Amino acid sequence: MGPGYLVLALLLVVAQAKFPAKFSFGASTAAYQIEGAWLQDNKSMSNWDNIAHSSMIGDNTTGDVVCNSYNLYHKDIAIMKEYGIKHYRMSISWPRILPFGFAGSAVNMKGVEHYRDLFRELLKAGITPYVTLFHSDLPSYLFIIGTGLTDPDFVNDFTNYADICYKYFGDLVKYWFTFNEPWCAAVFDPTEPQEEPTRPYLIGHQLLLAHASAVDLYRRKYKTEQKGMIGWVLNSEMFFPKDPSKKADIDAADRALTMQIDWFSEPLFTGDYPQKLKDIVKDRLPKFTGAQRDMLKGSADFYALNHYFTFLTEPERVSGEKVGESFWNDRNIKTSFDPAWKLTDTYWSIVPEGFYGLIKRVHDKWVKDSGIEIYITENGAAINEMNITAANNDKVRLDYLQRYISMLDKAITEGVRITKYFIWSLLDNFEWGSGVSKRFGIIRVEYGTDNPQRIPKGSLKWYSELIKSVA
Ligand code: BGC
Repeated sequence: MGPGYLVLALLLVVAQAKFPAKFSFGASTAAYQIEGAWLQDNKSMSNWDNIAHSSMIGDNTTGDVVCNSYNLYHKDIAIMKEYGIKHYRMSISWPRILPFGFAGSAVNMKGVEHYRDLFRELLKAGITPYVTLFHSDLPSYLFIIGTGLTDPDFVNDFTNYADICYKYFGDLVKYWFTFNEPWCAAVFDPTEPQEEPTRPYLIGHQLLLAHASAVDLYRRKYKTEQKGMIGWVLNSEMFFPKDPSKKADIDAADRALTMQIDWFSEPLFTGDYPQKLKDIVKDRLPKFTGAQRDMLKGSADFYALNHYFTFLTEPERVSGEKVGESFWNDRNIKTSFDPAWKLTDTYWSIVPEGFYGLIKRVHDKWVKDSGIEIYITENGAAINEMNITAANNDKVRLDYLQRYISMLDKAITEGVRITKYFIWSLLDNFEWGSGVSKRFGIIRVEYGTDNPQRIPKGSLKWYSELIKSVA
């Protein structure tokens, strides 16, 4: 793509944009994916340190150094400031704050000081921090003394960790997310056999309870003084029926959404699981007590959503076949892509209408009558950029972002209350099972040293102009 194309594309989107003046455009990251410094300042091992050190990562990399943002956050902040990004979503590493993880164990003040300094520097640069408490990295010690997410003490341990974060950071942080993507934590648990009949539902249940408990604590103990907002971050693909004229395919798409986004949304609004999920999972789905339902209901000050791509859906089994009990068999979906859809480097489809469809569904089903706002907390594309020249010209990402962002514009015009949008990701980073081989950043990172260079990509330059145009 030449500079002419970039300017033209830029003008088209900026001319189109009807974003409200207060609309916030930002960028997201997560601790394990960018921080490095894996044993610095008394941090203990997390589950992801263990996974990466067990050669379970596609490209054999680890998060030991990656972007080294733990030490180089001043650089990240300087670039955000230069390009006008005023909203930054990040996560705190639990094993840095509580190396032993559990309630009552010692707080690591070096970890606390690190994040306080980071928040202060962000605020000084005019950047608002949005902070996720748990974005996949659990102190490994919780697996030594217990069973991690399924442990009977998990809700209490998480609430205690949240309490410490509110206490030490709540004067600086006004937007909290308890968990990132509970659905992924429940169904992609790397320690779980894929055919486990109850474990995904148990993990989901624990995360819902831990979320509600941490929100309740914030509201009772801190909100009056700190005046922050709190919720959590849900994720979903969009599912369209493969053949829109077939009832079985329409039902399959709806079932996929029930078993992803509704599973973790409905309890926030009604205090209980969707009836359809109860009908499918039956007695393998745990139950809430009355007190737990009361705590869950209304436990989000906003609806935060991550979205990347779309599937076509049809039933995996048409009828009657006997299969084992598992989440995937409960879901009974076969997914595919329309051959006309372009794919990103993670083989995810580029379907902006899917983004719009999901937003509309979330709005119509959950948010419309609740008075809360929708935040898009992650959206973006991994693109294979071999070198700096390719990163400068990241036209596939630019096209993805423009087309997805235009769907926000459409939804807002139709009255959907979306007020924030964050690109995943600020930086190229450690993409979980794929390691550093997949690049989601709007800033390129040249890995391989303790001081990895940061190079703004073409899409960051475009984003900067878009931000200016609505400011
Ligand atoms: C997660 C990120 C991840 C991104 C791309 C989301 O599921 O929150 O941590 O890197 O998607 O896979």
